[in-house]
Amino acid sequence: MHIRQNFSLKEYNTFGIDVSAKHFSNFGSIEELEEALQYRKEVSANSPCPLLILGGGSNVLFTKDFDGIVLKNELSGIELVNEDAENYYIKASAGEKWHNHVEYCISNNYSGLENLSLIPGNVGASPMQNIGAYGVEIKDVFFELEAYNIQDKIIQTFSLDDCQFGYRESVFKNKFKGQFVILNVTYKLKKNPVFNTSYGAINTELERMGVKDLNIRNISNAVINIRTSKLPNPKEIGNAGSFFKNPKVSKFRWHVIWEQFPDVVAYKVDEMNYKLAAGWLIEQCGWKGFRKGDAGCHSKQSLVLVNYGNAKGEDIINLADEIIYSVENKFGVKLEKEVNIV
Ligand code: FAD
Ligand code: EPU
Repeated sequence: MHIRQNFSLKEYNTFGIDVSAKHFSNFGSIEELEEALQYRKEVSANSPCPLLILGGGSNVLFTKDFDGIVLKNELSGIELVNEDAENYYIKASAGEKWHNHVEYCISNNYSGLENLSLIPGNVGASPMQNIGAYGVEIKDVFFELEAYNIQDKIIQTFSLDDCQFGYRESVFKNKFKGQFVILNVTYKLKKNPVFNTSYGAINTELERMGVKDLNIRNISNAVINIRTSKLPNPKEIGNAGSFFKNPKVSKFRWHVIWEQFPDVVAYKVDEMNYKLAAGWLIEQCGWKGFRKGDAGCHSKQSLVLVNYGNAKGEDIINLADEIIYSVENKFGVKLEKEVNIV
């Protein structure tokens, strides 16, 4: 383990924000994690040393230099740990790249992750916000995870219920925020694939591709095509995916908006609630393609805020706040940030 000081994080966050960490280290084993936590304890004797566990940095926005220690998770390994009549149980270490893990499962014909193809980041962050795309969320394929309890220095196992998954939510983002380091996640994947093409754009894309025999590889390719057609590649334009959540509103609020804006894009959640497409709300307020300095709102997907080069975290936050204000003014709906602000 090698601790570096005043270490630039520009290459470690997909927004490409140029800040530094007072202390920085990778860890590739539990021993290295414990050594780094011990180092943190020692430097904390003089002044508090905040801790940030980092995966691929694709869901964080840094707004200032980090006056603490950043530990980058590099635990590696993927293995089939069990199987029963219907399922394979695949355990992946937290530092594995998410899409590599999806690819591994598709190539072995383990079904369930294909709709989640090409999401940036690492396995360890997948339960943090219950990642989701194209009709599937992690909770649908999750079996259990192991996490290191920083205070008690023990490894604990969390079941599906323990994680309290919700839309872009989990217990690790709320009650246990900052208390655990996720070490590995076990997914329960189907032997006989159940194809999920309920998200309309997938069927349209499969038709366009001329697919006759549906399989998990085709679904993955369709999802990849859709994603690359509208989401900016962080290697080219800095971003962290959707900056805001799609807001859930009461049926009454949806109806008020619908009367004035009959084109509103909304999905029924249950009898009393609707989810609105935040991208639509933002576009209606005129932000799509907007750019101020190097901070902008993506031209193909308004829900994605972008850094064209040298934007600071503050520039992105200021733009986000202006967007929140204008959407609330026009529709009476307050957008909530999805990205972790550090
Ligand atoms: P990081 O950004 O490194 O960390 C995110 C949070 O998790 C931080 O608070 C961090 O401290 C914490 N954390 C990370 N690893 C651990 C660990 N091992 N233990 C404890 N805490 C940890 N998300 C979706 O849900 N669906 C999408 O379709 C989607 N599309 C995206 C498209 C693009 C182009 C981009 C850039 C992002 C997209 N995202 C999407 C967001 C992001 O990819 C996911 O949230 C991803 O899971 C983040 O992984 P990461 O390893 O980069 O996490
Ligand atoms: N729309 C617009 N204008 C826009 C963007 C969207 O009108 O600028 C409308 C369109 O009608 C479109 C609808 O909104 O059909 C939905 O858009 P899209 O399919 O792109 O999905 P989204 O709701 O904007 C969510 C997730 C994404 C995930 C996709 C696909 C959230 C916050 N975002 O986006 O996740 O990939 O669905 O399932 O739930 C992420 O979390 O970072 C992320 C990218």
